[in-house]
Amino acid sequence: MFAHVSVLVREVIELLSPGPGKRYLDGTLGGGGHSEQILLGSGPDGQVLGLDRDDEALAVARERLSRFGTRLIARRASFAQARDILTILGWHAVDGVILDLGISSMQIDSPERGFSFRIAASLDMRMDRSQELDASRIVNSYSEAELEGIFRDYGEEPQARRIARAIVAERKLKKLETTAALAEIVTRVKKSRQRGHHPATQVFQALRIAVNQELSELERFLDKGYETLQPAGRMAIISFHSLEDRLVKTAFRKWSRACLCPPRTLRCQCGWSRKAKLLTRKPIVPSPAEIDANPRARSAKLRAVERI
Ligand SMILES: C[S@@+](CC[C@H](N)C(=O)[O-])C[C@H]1O[C@@H](n2cnc3c(N)ncnc32)[C@H](O)[C@@H]1O
Repeated sequence: MFAHVSVLVREVIELLSPGPGKRYLDGTLGGGGHSEQILLGSGPDGQVLGLDRDDEALAVARERLSRFGTRLIARRASFAQARDILTILGWHAVDGVILDLGISSMQIDSPERGFSFRIAASLDMRMDRSQELDASRIVNSYSEAELEGIFRDYGEEPQARRIARAIVAERKLKKLETTAALAEIVTRVKKSRQRGHHPATQVFQALRIAVNQELSELERFLDKGYETLQPAGRMAIISFHSLEDRLVKTAFRKWSRACLCPPRTLRCQCGWSRKAKLLTRKPIVPSPAEIDANPRARSAKLRAVERI
């Protein structure tokens, strides 16, 4: 079994300061590392609702956290559905929320999941394996312009157009079936190798985001995400690339503003009121020691708010 090393655990627990009798939402349960610490900190009767889109992650987390019994409720769902699930449970709102975005090491390192350009596998990349759309469908059927848009918008890939063109030329000869075939095309087009970065890093990130609609799911959650929190409840979100971090930063700033009217408006007309207090003006990042021990933590950024 592959293990996932949780990121910024101490910092998340300090922010959420779990306590007995409280309820928490872990929207990205993964290997259960953050939830485990929340459950330990909220004994004997604190509860966690853990969501994940990936059945395999849920199985690993359920096993790891089995000693907490019914204090963990684990469900297959996107965190974008969190408010509905809280309502069904009769919880309505929680004392703390953690989202630790992206994919886990268990997913990246599983050969058959197709997330990694380092492992030859079929082009899959679905977190939820009951979903129809996978990376192969995108690579083999989307238009050149659509592929270019995905690589540019979700991968910030400077050679998006040339890569899209090369993929379309290649798939006319033969369907692109594997991560290795895709990585080979990207490497051929890009030639240059940035230090420490495989040339296909951004294209694989972009495809993964497109397959799992990661940004729109996060936007759906952030639209009214503050409603998942009780007054004085706290939310911590860890992101791993600038596109996610920008969405989180913008939403948290909006929630912390008293009014959304344009500047110099004499009387407020927006009807908005302040929802939350910013707890992190600048994002918290992992220490050099954490990055040394777990290089996958290197791009993590943690932001947090407190519901008013
Ligand atoms: C970085 S891992 C979380 C690791 C976890 N915090 C731990 O300490 O073990 C991210 C997890 O979130 C899941 N995930 C990503 N986007 C999701 C979404 N929109 N809804 C639910 N789960 C999601 C992935 O399937 C993956 O298992």
